Amino acid sequence: DSALHTETFGRHVVYMSSTRSTNEEAKKIAREGAEEGTIVVAEEQTGGHGRLTRGFYSPFAKGIWFSLILRPKFFPMEASKCTLLAAIGVCRGIRRLGLKDAGIKWPNDILYHGKKMVGILTEMSASMEKIDYIIMGIGINTGMKKSEFPEAFRETSTSFLNEGIDVSRKDLLAAILAELEKEYHMAQTEGFDKVLEDWKTLSVTLGQEVRVIFGNDSYTGKAVDIDKDGCLLVDTGSHVTRVIAGDVSIRPI
Ligand code: BTN
Repeated sequence: DSALHTETFGRHVVYMSSTRSTNEEAKKIAREGAEEGTIVVAEEQTGGHGRLTRGFYSPFAKGIWFSLILRPKFFPMEASKCTLLAAIGVCRGIRRLGLKDAGIKWPNDILYHGKKMVGILTEMSASMEKIDYIIMGIGINTGMKKSEFPEAFRETSTSFLNEGIDVSRKDLLAAILAELEKEYHMAQTEGFDKVLEDWKTLSVTLGQEVRVIFGNDSYTGKAVDIDKDGCLLVDTGSHVTRVIAGDVSIRPI
């Protein structure tokens, strides 16, 4: 159902018909003091993006494009793991709405049968000691038909509709917010150990042969685990490498 079963997440909603990027809007209102749990949600983004200059296609009413404002008490060092937490909440919400095989590709893409359904961009403002705010930006493809994806993503992306489910965006958002809040609450009270465990049970990367790509270089190995910082451990046969999210991409082989 689309009733909101949360304490704070999504209790304040800034709804926009069109905006450049919900992350940009969320940052603006976070700087002005918006409280934890506030979300910015838009029908359409004209400049939705991932890291660096990677564009994120966000057409009108064909997905859920939103950003959640957090003000966690943990140390800035821990914040990178929020991106794993985001993936857990979104993956569980998606499974609840019928796509039981949804899984997490390290660190935070959600795949359905190997195709990308979700993009996540987590951004932070903090000093050395204290986090001011974290913006968790999440985009979920719901209503795009295969032919509607830009050509470059057509073979590698999917949506609920494309997988045969005419999902209610309200129900899906409510489910995701509930799952995110539960996991976030656990991280705040008990630390990230259980979050890392949960991430592992939803992962489609662990156990897979992968290619690790950095710039023009790459190597292959088996993704065997993630460590306590959320780094991916890849066994190349001769040694185990520790892969830090951000500058590398991985691809199944
Ligand atoms: C990726 O490159 O996969 C990450 C894309 C993140 C997209 C979401 S949609 C809501 C929020 N607003 C943005 O501009 N980006 C995030």
